[in-house]
Amino acid sequence: MTNDQRRSAYLEEIGIGPVWKRRSVQIEAVPEPKPRPEHIVEQPVAAPAPHDDLLFEPAMPEMETHGSSNYDPAVIARMDWATLKETVSGCTKCDLCRNRTHTVFGVGDEKAKWLFVGEGPGRNEDLRGEPFVGQAGKLLDNMLLALGLKRGDNAYIANIVKCRPTDAAGKDRPPTAEESAACIPYLQRQISLIQPSIIVALGKTAALSLLNLRPDTPVSKLRGTVHTYADLPLVVTYHPAYLLRSLTDKKKAWDDLCLAMATYGR
Ligand code: URA
Ligand code: SF4
Repeated sequence: MTNDQRRSAYLEEIGIGPVWKRRSVQIEAVPEPKPRPEHIVEQPVAAPAPHDDLLFEPAMPEMETHGSSNYDPAVIARMDWATLKETVSGCTKCDLCRNRTHTVFGVGDEKAKWLFVGEGPGRNEDLRGEPFVGQAGKLLDNMLLALGLKRGDNAYIANIVKCRPTDAAGKDRPPTAEESAACIPYLQRQISLIQPSIIVALGKTAALSLLNLRPDTPVSKLRGTVHTYADLPLVVTYHPAYLLRSLTDKKKAWDDLCLAMATYGR
């Protein structure tokens, strides 16, 4: 498949392109993605974080707030899948536990090479206990398809926080830095169990929290660069819920996926 064909396929998958039906997808057969624009500077994977000026240390939540005895990051870091899942489902470490219906642990291939990280469950996810099940989830599935991936097949989907954050009016909101810091040891353990080859951060919240960057870091500093998280390459793209509202940025998200594919292929 030429790169133009692949791009059309992507645009169609995400709902803005010509009608084109995929018959089979082979990741290995992906041709060289289109060259990235000049301004995109790629960093060697092993390079130290280049954002010293942007680094952000959220205040760590009090360890004993809700008396969760399992909440020791060092203990979490040694858990197997079963224990980790059970611990998350009973976690009361931060206030997000109060209003949840279900914890949303993550879903997909536990040996996936691709890990996609969103910010946190919304209403639908809280009801179902699975990440990205609403409209944004459909778009994410189509983005995965464009990469030759599926939820259960070489892709894993998780969030920074496992419980749904809501505002005073009961509407979805992004997690705070403190909530993210409380929950991230679970994601860290998921990552070390999965051992993916590449991480795609879906949106600013996921990117900032994984890369430990200050909340005011502009997205323009995050996209188009290969970052490093725990020695793994990390590429940032727009959050699918945002892409649902922005046609132009859907096209830019294709560039991000090209960068991710090129990085994965290396
Ligand atoms: N948005 C996210 O970031 N994660 C989900 O699971 C759903 C919506
Ligand atoms: Fe525990 Fe994470 Fe839920 Fe907070 S968001 S209660 S840390 S699982």
